[in-house]
Amino acid sequence: MSEQTNDRKLEHIRVIEQDPATDRQGAYFDQLRLRHRALPEIDLADVDPSIEFLGKRLSFPLLISSMTGGDHALLLTINRNLALAAEATGVAMGVGSQRVMFTHPQARASFALRTLAPSVPLLANIGAVQLNKGFGLAECEEAVSVLDADALYLHLNPLQEAIQPEGDTQFAGLAGKIQTLAPQLSCPLILKEVGCGLSAADVELGLAAGVRYFDVAGSGGTSWSRIEHHRCQQGDLGLAFQDWGLPTPLALQQLRPYQGKAVFLASGGIRSGIDMVKSVILGGSVCGMAAPFLRPAMESPEAVIRVIESIKREFVTAMFLLGITNVEQLYLRDELFWTGNRN
Ligand SMILES: Cc1cc2nc3c(=O)[nH]c(=O)nc-3n(C[C@H](O)[C@H](O)[C@H](O)COP(=O)(O)O)c2cc1C
Repeated sequence: MSEQTNDRKLEHIRVIEQDPATDRQGAYFDQLRLRHRALPEIDLADVDPSIEFLGKRLSFPLLISSMTGGDHALLLTINRNLALAAEATGVAMGVGSQRVMFTHPQARASFALRTLAPSVPLLANIGAVQLNKGFGLAECEEAVSVLDADALYLHLNPLQEAIQPEGDTQFAGLAGKIQTLAPQLSCPLILKEVGCGLSAADVELGLAAGVRYFDVAGSGGTSWSRIEHHRCQQGDLGLAFQDWGLPTPLALQQLRPYQGKAVFLASGGIRSGIDMVKSVILGGSVCGMAAPFLRPAMESPEAVIRVIESIKREFVTAMFLLGITNVEQLYLRDELFWTGNRN
């Protein structure tokens, strides 16, 4: 079992490399058009894209979403390159599931990233379903402490687990376990999907359990159902569900009534600085991207930095063309979309 977790992470990366359609390219953000200003009445230099997240300053609202870690040179390289790039550009970073470090102590090094990224928010990560399999406060605190993390992601991936032949599908009673954990944890807890979106009912349960942060991780980008289909070769179940779930812009729209009570992170299929601007208008405080950073992270920190800088240029340019000087002025401002183009 312990061998499987490490190998599985490597297999996922190989599948993503070999099948570009694991990124579903739903392009759902393209259906939303922004209201261009020909007279923006600001200078490009007036645009300040920085924000505060978890008590720290980000150069713009980008989060490198949780991907990996483990006892293997490639996984170590990916995480170190991402951490160096996050620090150099002033963006937040999540790590992949840390379950592996409880069975492979050597995997801890791939999560010990604080010396490489001393000033940016780092997010630890554990599968919520592990709370039904013996994990509790001690394991969660250990995951946080190895990373010296600013928050802990509990990821929710019922579809992925259902497609895996070896999947952990005991999701009953998890909300109660989260309710016990949340107030005892030394840092904020963030509930996160992995590409199917959080529904209003999920957020209701999370809020009742004392959780304030939610990463919607909707559909349109990386499809775990399709990835697991390649690994499992068990009929077409994974393909049948490859586009299951809520597209990220719709997920954000249906969570609008909870704004104010909760902080939402937008992710899933965000592919540009323009998508990021739309996500912030729809109520995402921070925008996460995973797959676009995988290949550059296998190469070098500089390759990741290049991608981040180009996304940042897009973000700043879009703000300029909307006549907006700071990110707070984007947040929930529906009038920045062309009237009538929202679905
Ligand atoms: C290679 C890879 C590994 C991932 N591993 C994890 C993980 O261990 N834990 C997690 O919460 N999400 C994981 N994710 C999901 C992402 O954090 C994100 O929610 C999802 O991929 C949607 O973002 P994207 O469309 O920009 O890729 C992984 C994504 C990728 C591409």
